Amino acid sequence: MLKSSMALGYIILVCLFNGSLAQLNQRLFPDDFMFGAATAAYQVEGGWDEDGKGVSIWDDFFHSQGANETGDVACDSYHKWREDVENAKNLGLQFYRLSIAWTRILPDGTLGNINQKGIDYYLNVLKALKENNIEPVVTIYHWDAPLHISKLGGFLSSAIVDYFGDYARLLFQTFGEYVKYWITVNEPTIVCELGYGMDVFPPALALIGDGIYQCGYNLLKAHAHAYHIYEDEFKATQKGKITIVTECAWYEPNDPTSTQDLETRERAIQFRLGWFANAVYLGNWPQVMIDRIGNRSQAEGLSKSRLPQFTQEEIDYINGTHDYFALNTYGTVNVTYTPEAPPGEASYWTDLEVTNSDTYDDPQGIRKLLNWINNRYNPGEIIISENGKVNDGGLDDDDRIEYISGYLSSILDAIYEDNLNVIGYGVWSIMDNFEWGSYDKRFGLIEVDFDSPNKTRTWKKSAYWYQDVINRRCLATTCQENIL
Ligand SMILES: *[C@@H]1O[C@H](CO)[C@@H](O)[C@H](O)[C@H]1NC(C)=O
Ligand SMILES: *[C@@H]1O[C@H](CO)[C@@H](O)[C@H](O)[C@H]1NC(C)=O
Ligand SMILES: *[C@@H]1O[C@H](CO)[C@@H](O)[C@H](O)[C@H]1NC(C)=O
Ligand SMILES: *[C@@H]1O[C@H](CO)[C@@H](O)[C@H](O)[C@H]1NC(C)=O
Ligand SMILES: *[C@@H]1O[C@H](CO)[C@@H](O)[C@H](O)[C@H]1NC(C)=O
Repeated sequence: MLKSSMALGYIILVCLFNGSLAQLNQRLFPDDFMFGAATAAYQVEGGWDEDGKGVSIWDDFFHSQGANETGDVACDSYHKWREDVENAKNLGLQFYRLSIAWTRILPDGTLGNINQKGIDYYLNVLKALKENNIEPVVTIYHWDAPLHISKLGGFLSSAIVDYFGDYARLLFQTFGEYVKYWITVNEPTIVCELGYGMDVFPPALALIGDGIYQCGYNLLKAHAHAYHIYEDEFKATQKGKITIVTECAWYEPNDPTSTQDLETRERAIQFRLGWFANAVYLGNWPQVMIDRIGNRSQAEGLSKSRLPQFTQEEIDYINGTHDYFALNTYGTVNVTYTPEAPPGEASYWTDLEVTNSDTYDDPQGIRKLLNWINNRYNPGEIIISENGKVNDGGLDDDDRIEYISGYLSSILDAIYEDNLNVIGYGVWSIMDNFEWGSYDKRFGLIEVDFDSPNKTRTWKKSAYWYQDVINRRCLATTCQENIL
């Protein structure tokens, strides 16, 4: 009954959708390929001060500005989690990515006060997902540090390594029975660039020449600490996997025949993806970062590089702290060679020295990026932990269907033609949510009416489309096992 009505829905969709379905990959997704969707605590939960939750840097950031739009209520998933799990189940999701709000479990970030009501909330969600055969993918840190930990220096201080380790151990002890895929930190580039290098995100320190790199240094040590705690104390019994999520666009040389633009492209990827992935997968910062930041620091008269140097002990501790590769990627950027600026005000941007175009959609980009990663890092299993399309809203989201189908089609090419071990794909996001300052940027498969007290959820066209793709494991009208 359900199946036939879904098939009918699909025929209607195909007729309505005038995109490029005809060119889509006609291969079936591998049997063990996992379709999923992603969220993050601050963007969906709300309940910002309920049941003993402490204040995070995001709560403080918007409240201290008197901002009209905050994550205080967001999608109200703190109360509506049953409906969210129901939607995930009805979509047919095989995994659901969520993050834990550090302050819901540890209100001031330390083990001094453990909030049982916060623990109960996540236990309920995780159990409900497992009961519906949906694998939870759990992010330990998705940007919402406890304000108290931030006051202690946040990622500028090595004190965060032990605080983060204590928090992560508590999560493994408490939730590990239900979690097979852990993520330590989501998108460290964004944490360090927008929060420590600029004033766009909290803690808004605007330390673009040095704080940004101190952040990266302590963040990697915190990640590695959590990895080793899991490895040493939990992995044998809980049998899960843990890694870090890195984000990167694909970069194209503005002039594909220019060796300078090609070198610039490589440098852009190294400063973005390599900044964290190189350390985790190969043991150190990319050589181009060490050289350029070292040289510029010297020219600025500093006695040592603004990019902290790892000790051999730190290298050994960070090198190899991954059980799978998790990648967030959204678009492609053209880059142009730019002559090196004379020494002056220290900045990540002059350390990098690239001229960027705007980001644009190009499904080929994800395949090229996956190959770049595979060639450098020998990453093993790869999960696309986020990919998705923003628009201004509305239920008729053909643009989102076209985007996701194009990227998934390119992923099938990466799997079958390039032999890459891509094991899953997570749409950002299952539903519209609070895009770090705005409710107008809509990423959801499911619409959320933020004006309704009920935060009413309504399936968009893309939700029905994704449900059908998951059900048939195929993007085109018909698919075959493998086409050579
Ligand atoms: C909040 O909204 C009011 C009314 O639209 C506006 O006057 C005010 O500037 C806004 N405040 C902020 C911080 O955006
Ligand atoms: C990116 O570069 C390609 C050629 O490599 C060009 O066709 C395209 O218009 C460029 N896009 C942008 C946004 O600059
Ligand atoms: C990281 O570990 C790999 C594998 O053990 C090793 O080959 C490599 O030299 C290490 N990297 C560094 C910088 O020590
Ligand atoms: C760093 O400086 C040295 C000595 O001036 C120079 O040979 C080298 O090319 C520079 N490296 C980079 C990446 O700028
Ligand atoms: C609230 O949402 C639920 C589920 O979307 C719906 O069943 C219910 O009727 C809504 N209540 C109101 C008052 O809109």
